[in-house]
Amino acid sequence: MEFRRLGDSDLVVSELALGSWLTYGASVERERGLACVDRAFDLGINLFDTANVYGRGAAEEFLGEALQGRDRGSYHLATKLFWRMSPTDQGLSAEQVRKQSEASLRRLQTDYVDLYQCHRYDEHTPLEETMEALTELVQSGKVRWIGFSEWSPEQITAAIDLAGGSQGGLVPFVSSQPEYSMLWRKAEQVIPLCADHGISQIVWSPLAQGALTGKYRPGAPPPPGSRASGRDSGIMRRFKDDAVLEAVQRLRPVADDLGLSLAQLALAWVLREPNVAAAIVGASRPEQLDDNAGASGVKLSDEVVAAVDKALGPGIVASSRP
Ligand SMILES: NC(=O)c1ccc[n+]([C@@H]2O[C@H](COP(=O)([O-])OP(=O)(O)OC[C@H]3O[C@@H](n4cnc5c(N)ncnc54)[C@H](OP(=O)(O)O)[C@@H]3O)[C@@H](O)[C@H]2O)c1
Repeated sequence: MEFRRLGDSDLVVSELALGSWLTYGASVERERGLACVDRAFDLGINLFDTANVYGRGAAEEFLGEALQGRDRGSYHLATKLFWRMSPTDQGLSAEQVRKQSEASLRRLQTDYVDLYQCHRYDEHTPLEETMEALTELVQSGKVRWIGFSEWSPEQITAAIDLAGGSQGGLVPFVSSQPEYSMLWRKAEQVIPLCADHGISQIVWSPLAQGALTGKYRPGAPPPPGSRASGRDSGIMRRFKDDAVLEAVQRLRPVADDLGLSLAQLALAWVLREPNVAAAIVGASRPEQLDDNAGASGVKLSDEVVAAVDKALGPGIVASSRP
């Protein structure tokens, strides 16, 4: 496993991170989830991503239990707030920042998280209020660094300006968590801005929720036990289109020529971008992590990157929702 620095922070994170959306505390049974966390450590993964809203606290509770007994200095824990936790609890107000962070720390059974992320931008709270509340958390030691997820260039610029204009009074953001994969490239709109301001990307769904592993064949039912075959299949709709699945199959010769699996090619593709500090993968079984970890350290040439685009072909890559 290779490691990269997260923005202007002192966190050095593994190129592969393990996420917990739809999996732990949810569709993946407990013992298998614990085996995935153990395998992640065996493979050198040191960044674990979750959110208060995943399973309404269940993913954090699972991780809190799974990480007990591990040296707290041997891994980085990232969680998030914003989405609705109860009819009166959502958003990024100062009150919510305090209340949700306390609840997350309790479920995670820890005194601090390494990265606390705003899961979306809150149009109903002044940004300064959110940043002041996050700064208090950092000063109290409950949070080491802060980040955001899926913010627009304008929202990111406003945060950079606020922190920069506060003469050190406000803690700056060091990380951005957008969706990014060969099939979904909207994040490229924020990368130059972030790179100029000490903010790294830690990207979600780098395998397009499994579609880029090539296991879904066009015209065929999804394999039993896969995300697309279960209760979360609706969330994958974008990536189940036959034209997309055919394009993914066209990537096979590119991966074969490099001796890589399709999953490894897809992960090496997001990691080719220096501003990406980590690809956050999900895993329903430990063997998937063995496969995915093989992407760390793989360098793709410009010719391979061009071959990927040629294989995918026109009309497959999206940078905004239809
Ligand atoms: N900030 C946000 O708004 C946001 C949104 C979504 C996710 N996230 C974060 O990003 C993380 C990753 O998202 P994701 O789970 O969609 O990522 P992903 O890595 O694109 O997809 C993961 C799923 O693909 C399948 N898979 C993974 N490796 C495989 C392999 N080598 N071979 C075959 N199948 C494989 C598994 O599903 P099956 O085995 O069930 O098919 C796995 O759960 C989440 O856990 C969460 O922490 C953040």
